[in-house]
Amino acid sequence: MKKMRIMRLLVMLSILVIILSACSGNNANGDEKSSEKGGDVYTFKVSHVTQESHVWHQTALKFGEELEKLSDGRMKLEIYPASQLGLEKDMAQQLETGSLDFGFLTNAYMSTRQDSLNAWFMPFTFKNLEEAVKMRESEAAKQMLEDLNSQGLVGLDFIFAGNRHILMKNGHVSSPQDLKGKKIRIIGSPAIQEFLEKVGAGPTAMPLSEVYTSLQTGVIDGIDIDLDALVTEKYYENAENLTLTNHITFPSVIVMSQKTYDKLTTEDQEIVKKALKAAADWGVQEAIQRENKNLEELKKHGVKVKELTDTSAFDSIAKEVKDKYAEKSPVIKKFLEEAKQ
Ligand code: BEZ
Repeated sequence: MKKMRIMRLLVMLSILVIILSACSGNNANGDEKSSEKGGDVYTFKVSHVTQESHVWHQTALKFGEELEKLSDGRMKLEIYPASQLGLEKDMAQQLETGSLDFGFLTNAYMSTRQDSLNAWFMPFTFKNLEEAVKMRESEAAKQMLEDLNSQGLVGLDFIFAGNRHILMKNGHVSSPQDLKGKKIRIIGSPAIQEFLEKVGAGPTAMPLSEVYTSLQTGVIDGIDIDLDALVTEKYYENAENLTLTNHITFPSVIVMSQKTYDKLTTEDQEIVKKALKAAADWGVQEAIQRENKNLEELKKHGVKVKELTDTSAFDSIAKEVKDKYAEKSPVIKKFLEEAKQ
């Protein structure tokens, strides 16, 4: 009789274990969930600094769609735009601990954490955005992503906001002389700062949120900016001279938390990579199209546009910056060699 009772207890315990294990499946936030579709269920979180109209947000939406499609609905994505989860340094910390799963981080911020990422900011390396985005496939770019492992991040891809140009309250730019002594807003990054210092300008790092008023009140004379941000933020209302310099490009680095990545099966890791690649391919083409559309929009608003076709006045300064950074980082050296091919 006692034996029977023990047997019954063991059977019940086994059933309980089976039920519990069927229900378990780590989702990215640590909940336990199950899927009838043969795999764990995940709700990932991604964050970035731009507005919802921005091409980076649109790419995040696309990523979410691809994840759902490729995982048969097991993977979902919650998007937190416009720094809703904090500044980029906060996002990087959240990614390290695994409380955030993906980040679309500006290459500018990431270049302060990893030297090689300054490669994208080597002056006058690309004539247009098409040339810049081709470098996404370069060996050097792949190395930059791989090197992010040392920060607890899985580097997945680069997407682009556009190339950067100069908008000024007064005059256009054809040589360093036109920038001499001018206070130019930049996003904080070592190579961008160095280039503008060597040009003789006064580079002033400030967040986008302060730029409109600073231009209006004359605290700054101009800005280093991509056309998407220029149109979205309406900076042309306070400065009307746009020189299409293409002096640098402006990528976002798409990263995943290593902690989240390690929780996934190999098959699910492949789904994530495939979904991200499809979204990034789309985002890159969308950015190229927007470059032209944004320019037309700016002209409609009366912006005086001039293209800097002859960049020779900047040659010696650009070379100085490139030589210095190539010496510091073999990846930047390789990047510059590959960009020439
Ligand atoms: C900026 O600070 O210049 C910026 C940041 C993200 C997207 C576009 C521009």
